[in-house]
Amino acid sequence: MSHRIGIIGGDGIGPEVLAAALDVVDATGVDYERIDYDLGGTRFLATGEILPDSVLDELRGLDAILLGAVGTPAVAPGILERGLLLKMRFALDLYVNHRPFLAGPSTLNDGVDMVVVRENTEGTYAGEGGFLRKDTPHEIATQGSVNTRMGVERCVRYAFDLARGRAAKQLHLVHKTNVLTFAGDLWQRTFDVVAAEYPDVTTGYDHVDAACIHFVQRPEKYDVIITDNLFGDILTDLGGAIGGGIGRAASGNLNPARTGPSLFEPVHGSAPDIAGTGAADPRAAIISAGMMLEFLGETAAAKRVHEVIASSDDVSGTTAEIGTQIAERI
Ligand code: IPM
Ligand code: MN
Repeated sequence: MSHRIGIIGGDGIGPEVLAAALDVVDATGVDYERIDYDLGGTRFLATGEILPDSVLDELRGLDAILLGAVGTPAVAPGILERGLLLKMRFALDLYVNHRPFLAGPSTLNDGVDMVVVRENTEGTYAGEGGFLRKDTPHEIATQGSVNTRMGVERCVRYAFDLARGRAAKQLHLVHKTNVLTFAGDLWQRTFDVVAAEYPDVTTGYDHVDAACIHFVQRPEKYDVIITDNLFGDILTDLGGAIGGGIGRAASGNLNPARTGPSLFEPVHGSAPDIAGTGAADPRAAIISAGMMLEFLGETAAAKRVHEVIASSDDVSGTTAEIGTQIAERI
């Protein structure tokens, strides 16, 4: 069966790393229909459009979306991020952000083999808040954090299921329950209730600040981590740095209920400083594409992509050259 895959190159290095990732997908022989979407800074600057409703409706009918990167210095921060990437996460109910980290050549510490499960549609990202008396000396800005029992529980369950299927069978909740006593309390209670259904999974808890130390000094203590949206955002950049480098940090924005397509993207962003130079490592995009194949049920192809990536430390060159070499090995 042919998968219908939406391709959003986006901004900066996004289109370059996606081209390499698609070379690799092509090499697996998986049958798919490619549907390109011109979305991102260039379209916004030319037409004022970010994500028209008609396009969003089309996306809903796809099997998966592969995205390069969103964001350019030519557009004020937040416009494209909120209007395109976060809008897709919310509208398509991509409630889990699954981010794996493995040891690699630029690893700070060899023991890295973990997955951070980041809640992806709530928390501070929900956009609750606003200004009062804007641009006056008495200006007030509030930015709330939205945490629903349903939203937390479905992510916690996903993380427990994931941990159950891994060798170490271990799950840590990471939060800041000593200060965020409302949200943290909801998270901890939900975690404890669900944990009772998974007696085979060993559980733990760390405050997010302590987790940062452990990430650097003893990441081998972690197997699967479940955390909120903002903590997950920050921790996964650190995860990239201690794992194989941000150039290998991949992600799946998942709708595990499969009521629509899931979206796969490298964690690194648009990196405008190196766009067009060929210096971007396409591996994060390639691994993201591998995760997409896995989610689509293309198990053998996904396994092959991950095997080739795992032994690709000797591959070098430009973005396109790395893509070609990895595709050849497939
Ligand atoms: C990420 C990115 C996004 C986020 C930005 C681009 C909105 O940093 O996917 O981690 O904060 O979630
Ligand atoms: Mn981020």
